[in-house]
Amino acid sequence: MAPHPLLDLVRRRISVEEFDATHRLSEDQIRDLVADAAHAPSSFNIQHWRFVAVHRDEDKPRLQEIAFGQQQVADAAVTFIVLGDVRGTEKLPQILQRAVDADMMPQGKADAWVRMAGGIYSDETVARDEAIRSATLASMVLMLAAEARGWASGALSGFDAERVMQEFSIDPRYVPVMLLAVGRPVSHDDARKPRLEVDEILAFDRCRIF
Ligand SMILES: Cc1cc2nc3c(=O)[nH]c(=O)nc-3n(C[C@H](O)[C@H](O)[C@H](O)COP(=O)(O)O)c2cc1C
Repeated sequence: MAPHPLLDLVRRRISVEEFDATHRLSEDQIRDLVADAAHAPSSFNIQHWRFVAVHRDEDKPRLQEIAFGQQQVADAAVTFIVLGDVRGTEKLPQILQRAVDADMMPQGKADAWVRMAGGIYSDETVARDEAIRSATLASMVLMLAAEARGWASGALSGFDAERVMQEFSIDPRYVPVMLLAVGRPVSHDDARKPRLEVDEILAFDRCRIF
């Protein structure tokens, strides 16, 4: 059986640092990317991910400064501020109700999930870790979706989290997870960066010092 084309995308994706500054994405195209990202899995289907799309010329320099001047943010068509909702469980009854209404989940199971999630995520650290985990998975899907749609991406954790909260009026219930620049690359010929060999990162059945 021929390998699925997704494998090609996974192996082709690279982080782009040089974007074509003349390239624009429409709000519909940005919506499509976020709709793709929303197919990521999340604990209890809480979907902790939230996105602020910074795409206007007047807003990009503000974000670039917060990202320590990184040029990608100025040149990419859009840079997403990817957020994780630390209080994501508050929406869970609503989310699960949609599954109940679609006959995909019995009411009893939905109620049990809400109780379970409420217990697990009453611990602030656990809730924050989970929000970051889910938003990170959505970010990866978004990066692959950008590639599949003919664009390129670059994740950035090099930014001042406190300042991004202030400057973009982000409520403290959201934790900034990463910035994600998406646009048209100046060139997609950059060599793929070397990876550790599989034997350097994989153990079977029990851990070891890698
Ligand atoms: C969470 C995360 C944060 C990153 N932060 C930055 C950043 O601030 N600036 C940057 O130029 N690249 C950043 N990168 C890109 C990495 O340097 C890049 O993914 C890595 O070197 C592997 O290269 P590749 O993505 O092309 O395979 C980041 C990547 C990730 C996943």
